[in-house]
Amino acid sequence: MHKTILLAALFGLLALVMNTSAQDKVDFETQVYPLIKASCVQCHRPEHDHPERPGRKIRPKGGYVFTNAEALMAAEVEDGPKFIVPGKPEDSRIIQVVKLPLHDDYHYPPEGKAPQWTAAEIELVSKWIAEGADFGKWKEDDKPLEYPVWDGKEK
Ligand code: HEC
Repeated sequence: MHKTILLAALFGLLALVMNTSAQDKVDFETQVYPLIKASCVQCHRPEHDHPERPGRKIRPKGGYVFTNAEALMAAEVEDGPKFIVPGKPEDSRIIQVVKLPLHDDYHYPPEGKAPQWTAAEIELVSKWIAEGADFGKWKEDDKPLEYPVWDGKEK
């Protein structure tokens, strides 16, 4: 009898611990994508018509599109690192470039063009990658050409 109660208590505890750690996992759609949307999408969005010049197209910078999971996972520097290496934030180009000094040619986003990620935000994105870069149910941004207007002030 006592053993049963103890076992039940143990399983209860285990369930609690597992549930807590599942809740602690970074959620791509609500926690990571908003950062990408605010700082990267103005340049890394799908090809589209130029709003003022008929017949002209605006292409994603470098050909890199960040508005859907497939493109994000496929992005890689020619002969170089992939943008996202699940489990390895330090090998992921996305993390490398935001951590480079602001004036480095390879630092993104370019200074003054979009809000920089704070140290805490870089940590959050790194954690998401370290946890396996799980997109959950998210597949794509349903408004990939829209992004928030930046007031020019860093956080
Ligand atoms: C103002 C435009 C702009 C913004 C905003 C921007 N990028 Fe880029 N990004 C570029 C351009 C331009 C390139 C270079 C394309 C090339 O060299 O062909 C680039 C290339 C990259 C590369 C490849 C770097 C390499 O090693 O070649 C990465 C990674 C990258 N961007 C990540 C990001 C991330 C992450 C953000 C947001 C936090 C971001 N970018 C925001 C314009 C931008």
